[in-house]
Parts: sequence; structure tokens; C-alpha cells
Amino acid sequence: MMEISANVQAIAYLVSAILFILALKGLTHPASARRGNYLAMAGMAIAIVATLMGSEVRSYGFILAGVVVGGVIGTVIAMRIQMTAMPQLVAALHSFVGMAAVLVAIGTFLNKQADGLLNGVLMGELSAGIIIGAITFSGSVIAFGKLQGIISGRPVQFKGQHLLNALLAIATIGFAVHFALTESTVSLAIMTLLAFILGFTLIIPIGGADMPVIVSMLNSYSGWAAAATGFTLQNNLLIIVGALVGFSGAILSLIMCRAMNRSIFNVVFGGFGTAAVEGDGVADAAQKGVKSAAIEDAIYWMEDANKVIIIPGYGMAVAQAQHSMKELMEQLEARGVEVKFAIHPVAGRMPGHMNVLLAEADIPYENVVEMDEINPEFATADVVLVVGANDVVNPAAKDDPTSPIYGMPVLDAGKAHHVFVIKRSMRPGYSGIENRLYYQDNTSLIFGDAKDVSEGMVNQLKGAAH
Ligand code: TAP
Repeated sequence: MMEISANVQAIAYLVSAILFILALKGLTHPASARRGNYLAMAGMAIAIVATLMGSEVRSYGFILAGVVVGGVIGTVIAMRIQMTAMPQLVAALHSFVGMAAVLVAIGTFLNKQADGLLNGVLMGELSAGIIIGAITFSGSVIAFGKLQGIISGRPVQFKGQHLLNALLAIATIGFAVHFALTESTVSLAIMTLLAFILGFTLIIPIGGADMPVIVSMLNSYSGWAAAATGFTLQNNLLIIVGALVGFSGAILSLIMCRAMNRSIFNVVFGGFGTAAVEGDGVADAAQKGVKSAAIEDAIYWMEDANKVIIIPGYGMAVAQAQHSMKELMEQLEARGVEVKFAIHPVAGRMPGHMNVLLAEADIPYENVVEMDEINPEFATADVVLVVGANDVVNPAAKDDPTSPIYGMPVLDAGKAHHVFVIKRSMRPGYSGIENRLYYQDNTSLIFGDAKDVSEGMVNQLKGAAH
């Protein structure tokens, strides 16, 4: 391959960096997200070509083999992955970044040691890369296991946990300092091992349900690990991209915490989501004083309504009911009903989960309204249809100071004239607590899978049209 000079490479890297920043800007809105992705892909393509044409590359054999093997695996996974399994895929990918940072740093250490080129600054960078990379790796593996259900999602907590973590962190740093000062491979090995253990002990106590925030936090760590690798390899683009990932992951974690009204401290140390009751089925509903309704009841109120607000939640994602939501919207709009979708910032299990699914079903962006904007409208809605959402419509967040979700901003669904909730049972949502919305006079539950129920609604409306 033709070789390019360091200056040309630097300019190519600059162009890539600008494209990555523009891509992040594009990703801030659903309407521009696709463009954002294209810009990022262009930036990455330029970065890869410029790196391959650089003078550092000695042979292409291994690189080509890696691209082919990685490319095939990546393509197959991307084509097969379910939307609901996205968080664990992201966790798995972060573990690769972490492991890459560890391996690159160890490889660089061994090379430079052989050439006698080690110095204090480089040793510091190498240690940082290895520690952050190892924590990212084992933490992400645990996050993957919890999300995939291989490891129990329950927070595993025991006495002296924080003390153990503190001791592990101190010991890791101690061995890192010894390694930097003496170049001892024994210290290197112990430091690396301790950092792997630390990633494990830091993440295992956290509840499976909090994993999306943790995945975003590990995303941030993987960015810092990549930046450290960038310093090691003296690659400016890797430093820039690592910092972009590091900061955007941290900001995203904070946005998610704010939308749940919890501190990152509470997520990391709180052991949230333990109270989930199992097997609390439909039969209990009547006993608990909950009204259940049939599809016909909901249709009766919806087809003559002026305004219907649909609130999608995690259950819509599980059922993949977004396409029938689109049909339901079209059927109602054909009858002159105004239909809007109300989006809570943490509905579902990952940021933008609902927006992505509704966009996949081609529901126009103007029908999709964010929480702050839609909340004043609930009082004027004839019908609210809650589709597999629970915590994000729980009034306890506003009026019960003893509730674990007190203070979390919620959608004011209960203010509408009629509320219909589609869910399969009386089981609680992610936070494991009861929802008082279900006991309100204006609320009825339609028990069933969100896709089956919404398809039933569409069929009924279609039938009525003929
Ligand atoms: P949840 O509170 O988890 O409630 C989902 C509901 O969907 C459940 O009540 C469940 O009841 C129902 N459901 C599940 N599968 C269904 C199916 N196939 N058909 C119909 N219903 C189904 O979800 P939410 O309201 O979207 O709230 C999200 C929660 O996740 C919040 O507490 C939030 O803090 C948390 N969280 C979100 C994020 C992000 S970034 N989105 C990150 C971390 C935590 P049944 O089992 O009875 O059907």
C-alpha cells in the first residue's frame, strides 16, 4: 500500500476528529441521528485508511486477518441482534476495548523494554491503560452476564465490600507505582490481576436493572482506556476519540441518573431493584381491586376521542409492538383522533430506547413528544394508553415521599379521562414497586402481551371500518 507522510496522516486524523464531533452532534436528535451515524462511519473509514497507510505499519497480513475475522463476526452479530439485547451487546463490545487496551499496553511495554526505550511518563501511561482497561474488561463481562441472565441480576452484596474494594484499589495503585519505578514484570502481573478483580468486585454488587447506567459508565471507562492507549502509541486520533467517548459516556450516565432522580453514587452502591415479586399474576388483580378491561372497552373510548396519548415502555420493546402501534395510530388518525406518543427519558432499558423503536416503525417525529412538553397535555387527553410502561407512570414518584422512586420525574398519565394499561400480569416494573395508577378510578388494565393486544385493537378498528 502507498505510504503517506506523517503530515498527511495528521490532516486526515484532524478531518476524522471533526467528523466524529459532528457525528455526536447529529446523534443528539432522532431526526439527525442517521446523518450522525454516516458522519461517524466516514470519520472511521478515513481514520482506518490513514492509519494503514502510515509509516508505522510493517506488514498487512495480521491486520487483514483481524479485519476479516472481526468483520465477519461483527456483521453476523449486528444482523442477528434483537433491539432488547442491545445493552448486553454494547457491554460485550466495551469488554473488547478494555482487553485491547491491556494487551496493547503490555505489548508496548515488552517491546520498548527490549529496545531500552522506557521512561517514567510512558510507564505511567502504560499503568493507567492497563488498570482502566482491565477494570473495563471484567466489569463489562459481569454487566454482560447480568443483562444476558447468565449471572443473577440480583445485587450481590456482602459485609466489608466497600472496604475490600478500597483495599484492592490501593493495592493496585501500589503495584502500579512499583512497576513504574522498577519495570518489574511481577508487579505488572499482580497489578493487572488486581485490576481485573477490582472490575469484578465493583460491578457484581450492582443490580441487573441498573446495568444500563453501568454500561454507559463502562463506556466512559473504555474511552479513557482507549485514550491511554493513544498516549502509549502516540496516536493523537485515538486520544481525541477516547476523550470523546470518555466524556460522552460520563455525560450520558449523569443524564440517566438525573432522569431516575438518583445519584451515580446511589446506582453504584445502592443495590436497587431487589424487591421484585415473582408470579403475582392476573388472578390477583380483581382481589387487589384493580379493574380489568377488554380490547373493545378501550376501542369504544379511543375511536370517538379527540386526543389519545400512547405511553410506550419496556413492555413494548419486549413484545416488539411498535409496528402495531403505528397501525393503531393510523387507524385512529383516519377517524380524526389526534394521536401522540409520550416519551419518558428512561422508558425502556437504554437511552433513546423508545425513540429508536418508534422510528423503526416509521412513526413521524412530530407525533413523538418528550416528557416535559407532553405533561401539561394529559389533563386534556380523552384516553391514555400505557403500553408495557410501569415506573415511568407511577404517581408515587410525585406524591409518596416513602417511595424508592420519589422525586423521579414521571408522565402524568393518571390525569387523563380514561387510562388503559396493557401488561401481562400484576408484576411490578423495574423498580419492583407497586403502581398506584392501576388502582385509580379512571384506570383499567388490559391483560396480555402488548403486541397481541395492540394487534387485536387494530383488527377491531379495521373490522369496524369495513
Ligand atoms: P418498567 O417499569 O420496567 O415496566 C415495564 C412493564 O412492561 C412491566 O410492568 C411489565 O409487566 C410490562 N411488560 C413486560 N413485557 C411485556 C409484554 N410482552 N407485553 C406487555 N407488557 C409487558 O418499564 P418502564 O415504565 O419503561 O420504565 C423503565 C424503568 O427502567 C424505569 O424504572 C427506569 O428507571 C429503568 N431504567 C431505565 C434505563 C433507561 S436509560 N431507559 C436505564 C436504567 C434503568 P408484566 O410483566 O406484567 O407484563
